[in-house]
Amino acid sequence: MSDLQFRRHRRLRSTPGIRKMVRENEVKKEDLIFPIFVVEGEKVKNEVPSMPGIYQVSLDILAQETNKLERHGVPAVMVFGVPNEKDEYGSQAYAEEGIVQRAIGVIKENNPTLTVIADTCLCQYTDHGHCGVIRDGEILNDESLQLLTETAVSQAKAGADIIAPSNMMDGFTAAIRRGLDNAGFVHTPIMSYSVKYASAFYGPFRDAAHSTPSFGDRKTYQMDPANREEALREARSDVEEGADFLIVKPALSYLDIIREVKDATGYPVVAYNVSGEFAMLKAAAQNGWIDEKAVVMEKLVSMKRAGADLIVTYFALDVAKWIDEEL
Ligand code: PBG
Ligand code: ZN
Repeated sequence: MSDLQFRRHRRLRSTPGIRKMVRENEVKKEDLIFPIFVVEGEKVKNEVPSMPGIYQVSLDILAQETNKLERHGVPAVMVFGVPNEKDEYGSQAYAEEGIVQRAIGVIKENNPTLTVIADTCLCQYTDHGHCGVIRDGEILNDESLQLLTETAVSQAKAGADIIAPSNMMDGFTAAIRRGLDNAGFVHTPIMSYSVKYASAFYGPFRDAAHSTPSFGDRKTYQMDPANREEALREARSDVEEGADFLIVKPALSYLDIIREVKDATGYPVVAYNVSGEFAMLKAAAQNGWIDEKAVVMEKLVSMKRAGADLIVTYFALDVAKWIDEEL
C-alpha cells in the first residue's frame, strides 16, 4: 500500500481528540458581544416580534438581563437606546439623562466588569428616522458630525467603555476622536462601523429600535452591497482617522469583506451578525427545519475563519450556554 500516490487527510479527522488538536478556529466566549435594547418605563420586557427571545427592556429590569450575561460569561454588551421623545435633531441621543446614558450607568454600577459598548447614532432619536440631520430632504454630512460627537462624549461621560459610531457620515471617526480627546477621554476606544452596507437584513432591528426612516432609504450614506474596493477605502480611511476596531456589517453575506478588511489593516475586526440573519435562523429552527445550535455555531465559526476577532450577535447568551455544555 505504501507506494500509493495520495494523501490520507482523514488521519487528522479520525478521533474527536485529534480533530480538536488540529482545529484552526474556535468561537470563544471572549469573542461575543450581545446587543441590548433599552426603553423608557417600568417593568417593560417586550419581545421583538421578528426576533424571538430578544427583548426591549426598561432600566429597572436591565440588571436581570446583564446579570444573566455576566453569569454565563458573555463579556460585552452593545447598548441601543429607544427613547420616548424624538425630534428633528435627535436631542435625546446626547441628553445627559437620555435613555442610553442612564442605561450605561445602570450596567456599570451593577456589572462593573461587563464591557459596555455604546452605539452612537441618531436614527432612533430623530423624528424622521435618518442617521443625520436633514435639510430639504437631504441628509447633511458635516452638520451631523457635531451632534454625533456630542452623543459620543455624553456616552463616554456616562461610563461607556467603547464608542461605536454607526451613522456612516464621512469623517465621523475623526470628529468623534477629536471630541473624545478634547473632553479628556483619550483612552476610550472607537469601534467604528467602518464597512456598513445598505442592507435589507436590518429589518427586524428597525422594529426593535423604532428606527425605520420615514422617507427614502439609507443608500446615500450606507454602502452598496455590490462593492468591495469601496469597503477597503472605507476601512483604510477609518484607520487613518483613528478607529481602534473595525466593524463589518452584516456578516454572513460579507465574509469575503471581513477577510479583506482583516488582511488589509491588521486591525481588530468585528463581525456584526445582524437582526435579519438572526431572524432567518430562528424561524427555520422554530419550524424544526434546522438544528439551531449546530447551524449557529457553524455560522459563527465561519466568521472567525473569515478573520473576525469579535462577533456581535443576538445569539451570544445561547452560545455562551452551549459552550458551557461542551465543557
Ligand atoms: C442604526 C443601526 C442599524 C443597525 C445597527 N445600528 C440599522 C440601520 O442602519 O438601519 C442594525 C443592526 C441589526 O440589524 O441587527 N444606525
Ligand atoms: Zn443610524
